[in-house]
Amino acid sequence: MIRTLIATVLLSTLSLAAIARPVVIAHRGASGYLPEHTLPAVILAHGMSPDFIEQDLVLSKDGVLVVLHDIHLDTVTNVAEVFPARKRADGRFYAIDFTLAELKQLTVHERRDAQNQQVFANRYQHNGSNSDLFKIATFEQQINLISELNRSRGTNIGLYPELKSPAFHRAAGQDISQIFMAMLEKYKLNQADANMFVQCFDFNETRRLRNELGLKTGLVQLLAENSWQESDNDYAYLRSAQGLKEIAQVADGIGPWLPQLVDFETQAPTQLLMNAKAQGLKIHPYTLRADQLPPNLNWQQALTLTFDWLKVDGVFTDFPDKVSQYLQSKQK
Ligand code: G3P
Ligand code: CA
Repeated sequence: MIRTLIATVLLSTLSLAAIARPVVIAHRGASGYLPEHTLPAVILAHGMSPDFIEQDLVLSKDGVLVVLHDIHLDTVTNVAEVFPARKRADGRFYAIDFTLAELKQLTVHERRDAQNQQVFANRYQHNGSNSDLFKIATFEQQINLISELNRSRGTNIGLYPELKSPAFHRAAGQDISQIFMAMLEKYKLNQADANMFVQCFDFNETRRLRNELGLKTGLVQLLAENSWQESDNDYAYLRSAQGLKEIAQVADGIGPWLPQLVDFETQAPTQLLMNAKAQGLKIHPYTLRADQLPPNLNWQQALTLTFDWLKVDGVFTDFPDKVSQYLQSKQK
């Protein structure tokens, strides 16, 4: 797997700065096994003892933080059946057009594509009789659930919330960051030593959270490709040495797409990896999936590449049990 001499020299230098144990972030809960972001997926993830459980956050019409990956509802809920008349002209259903009471009437299912096919075919198979198990959760419900499980299990599993599409929310008249900060204050979570990383794709908002809104917790700047249109940020710039320097002024780490860290053909690490480490930024790439492997790699090789070769500080994974098992096996 490790092929290039140059890369070997670079990586052995970098390994000096590597941390002892990377963190495991349960991506959308234990989403490899149960519908993403639902309370059952959180409970299962908690039982797998990751370091963090992720919450993607959007707002309801009445300004409640709900845990959903998309501003749209149609890919993971039965909204089209329950509220057929509520789609917009573009044919999509938007969470922000529904009150929390309405959102709670929906059931959540495995993610489906535009052809209504399950994106990960072998994941949870819905048979209809237990669909009430899976509902949209609020951020507050997840805070309370994880907190209480931490108390009863004697663990300290952290939150890893992501503020989704702040500019979209602002255009709709809502300030997701202000509402988020109020929730942190309510639960006394806005502390420098809180076991939490806050993440956002929009660097304008990342800066605002730290410099204007007084966020004290860990903060991670997510990195996309410009073609994804995640925000109006120039991600090519943010991934550059100068961009990373700016990020390091307000954030503790970056959340890159895994292919941005390594050339899967040559196994050579990218300049982004080197430059981020040089800035002292933690690196938490997304997303390790046992059922959607990086090109040319099996699961074991993907883990070896991510942890032993790239030496990242943590990873988002749909399979926290499998990643933890790998990391524990290396400690024996
Ligand atoms: O937040 C890390 C990772 O989840 C980013 O990708 O699109 O799954 O939120 P996404
Ligand atoms: Ca996310």
